[in-house]
Amino acid sequence: MSASGEDWQAAGFGLYVHWPFCQSKCPYCDFNSHVAEHIDQKRWADALSREVERAGALTGRRKLDTVFFGGGTPSLMAPETVAQVLDTVRATLPLANDWEVTLEANPTSVEAGRFAAYRQAGVNRISLGVQSLNDGDLRRLGRLHSAAEARAAFDIARREFDRVSFDLIYARQDQSLDAWCEELDRALEMAIDHLSLYQLTIEPGTAFGARAARGGLRGLPDEDLSADMYDLTVERCAEAGLELYEVSNFARSGAICKHNMLYWSAGDYAGVGAGAHGRLTLKGQRHATVCPSAPGAWLKKAEQEADAFEEFAPLSGQEAAEEYLLMGLRVTQGISMSRLLAMGADTDLPNRVDRMVEAGMLACEGDTLRTTHQGRALLNAVLRELLAG
Ligand SMILES: C[S@@+](CC[C@H](N)C(=O)[O-])C[C@H]1O[C@@H](n2cnc3c(N)ncnc32)[C@H](O)[C@@H]1O
Ligand code: SF4
Repeated sequence: MSASGEDWQAAGFGLYVHWPFCQSKCPYCDFNSHVAEHIDQKRWADALSREVERAGALTGRRKLDTVFFGGGTPSLMAPETVAQVLDTVRATLPLANDWEVTLEANPTSVEAGRFAAYRQAGVNRISLGVQSLNDGDLRRLGRLHSAAEARAAFDIARREFDRVSFDLIYARQDQSLDAWCEELDRALEMAIDHLSLYQLTIEPGTAFGARAARGGLRGLPDEDLSADMYDLTVERCAEAGLELYEVSNFARSGAICKHNMLYWSAGDYAGVGAGAHGRLTLKGQRHATVCPSAPGAWLKKAEQEADAFEEFAPLSGQEAAEEYLLMGLRVTQGISMSRLLAMGADTDLPNRVDRMVEAGMLACEGDTLRTTHQGRALLNAVLRELLAG
């Protein structure tokens, strides 16, 4: 376990801060997000800061590479709240010189007005949830902003930050390949150094999930059209200089999101906030942490108890190896076979890997195992085969 423990150190250390509130709930979204009438920002800032201090005490002043404010909608955080949390981070943990601090933002004008203050607080990267560049599609996705507002927010973001990414959701209802191609080209004209391009997933427990179960969500692309849209996306982005580095993420050289890369390469991260998950290697043993999802329950725990964890459990070698496989095969750089085996993967895994290599889904070069283009398009099926030990 100690050799793999050193690898976890090498993959870096991050802090994830979850802000669980949104102005309204989008019909496709199953993230831990809640609509609240009133939020006591100072109370939340104090509770989050307390949790950051506890994470620092637990991890023994480990050097921090990244911070990610995710949600929900972190751009609903008052700039003072973000500043207080980041001040606590600076006072608690030593920082890497090139630490990356990302904040997820929704493109309404009110929120874009806060970008300068976020930068002053220490945020150095914005990830903007544009979702579509067409007003009709934004309405169907239940978004509160227009395409013009999204562009305006993006322009403000690029004035304030060197690093700006935005998200689009494609493979939407009644979207043709040509329509996506045209929208993607417009997005690529805007893009700076990073794009996240997700195919619409119908999640159980969401409004879209319920509508789909009733047969009411018509016009979604079939598998062939979705695959064509994906191929087109990868090609067009590459032509524009944004290389695929994870199933849905594209970046110019040097602009990958370090924080997400840390998840995908099984690095350690502390998770604070409602519903936040963490992975911490303590004395050579990897642990999984989970906080309560309900905002009120989390706040009470953070304020009144010694920590806000609902779960704090050691991961077995087999569990850690499966997680590394699940996450690591999403990224184009792939995973290290020797690290996977050192973590405690079952002894039949190399045989299952060989079968997937023969089927053209995986490629093995030296110690590196990665998905082929075909394997990435069928990633869920490939992972099912590999995990069927
Ligand atoms: C935490 S969410 C959103 C951040 C921010 N609240 C927003 O909506 O702009 C991160 C991203 O996941 C993507 N996403 C969420 N649910 C999805 C789904 N069901 N299918 C595809 N993409 C989804 C969206 O692109 C979204 O921007
Ligand atoms: S997509 Fe973003 S704004 Fe919409 S409900 Fe999910 S987290 Fe909130």
